[in-house]
Amino acid sequence: MRIVTAIPQLRSVLRAARARGDVIGFVPTMGALHDGHLALVDAVRPRAGCVVMSIFVNPLQFGPSEDLASYPRTLEGDSALAAAHDVDIVFAPSAAEMYPLPPAVAVIPVAPRPGDVALDARWEGAVRPGHFAGVLTVVAKLFHIVQPDLAAFGRKDLQQLTLIRAMVRDLNIPVDIVAVPTVRSADGLALSSRNAYLSESERARALAIPRALDAMVRAWTEGQTTDAGTLIALGHELLAQEPDVTADYLAIADAERLEPITDVVPGAVAMVAARVGRTRLIDNAVFAQAEVPR
Ligand code: PAJ
Repeated sequence: MRIVTAIPQLRSVLRAARARGDVIGFVPTMGALHDGHLALVDAVRPRAGCVVMSIFVNPLQFGPSEDLASYPRTLEGDSALAAAHDVDIVFAPSAAEMYPLPPAVAVIPVAPRPGDVALDARWEGAVRPGHFAGVLTVVAKLFHIVQPDLAAFGRKDLQQLTLIRAMVRDLNIPVDIVAVPTVRSADGLALSSRNAYLSESERARALAIPRALDAMVRAWTEGQTTDAGTLIALGHELLAQEPDVTADYLAIADAERLEPITDVVPGAVAMVAARVGRTRLIDNAVFAQAEVPR
């Protein structure tokens, strides 16, 4: 496995891989790797002759009061994990390599119809203004640098995945987006680099999040109700059972545009963001019958 920090060097290594006929698979990350990230590698590995993982804590997607400075940076351990999972190239640029100048151009989502709310203004975007413009801008840059044939993103960050699919479609970026189901620890908590911030008791209380989602999906699957308001109230009840777990939002939305819906149909998603102590966690679940989510 090679660790590359400079864009020109990465381009030349990838030119050689492409000349050999390799399909390029790409896994963008911010590091502090866990099994969720590694599941993305496993998802592209069978289809790619060359797998590139980027590790870059993107300053553009952090708000002024967010955790950019304290975000875990563990490149050495990450590289060992990537190598063990058969990654070919780790691309770990510095902020100066990615942003030699403050960016003058950004990828900003727009509302598709006049009067609509743009997808980046809802849910995570409402709480974290500018976050998705930062995400889409760095992902667009990384796509131009790596020029992958396929790239994997986790369903855990559902709004991010939805926006990236929209960007790829709207801007005709020639990359196949592979969506990977959320990887959870045995007790149900979605793996996240930010789980490292949780104390032992906070981690136990955070289980209210998957419990709430699970109860909502179960109530729907068992045919108790299809009313979104009733299911959301049920979810809030479960969150409220743990002290110091505060929902930023708990919503049910359609899978395409993540717009709130009132009647829950198969394929709809329940989405939650909650603060546990000072840590903000997100999770989601699909109201799925037989159909496997995309
Ligand atoms: P990061 O939070 O490091 O996540 C990198 C990728 O791993 C994302 O596609 C995310 O959805 C996926 N992921 C995280 N936890 C997961 C889990 N438990 N199960 C499955 N997939 C999981 O998301 C980002 O970085 C950044 O915004 C990035 C896209 C790299 C742009 O900077």
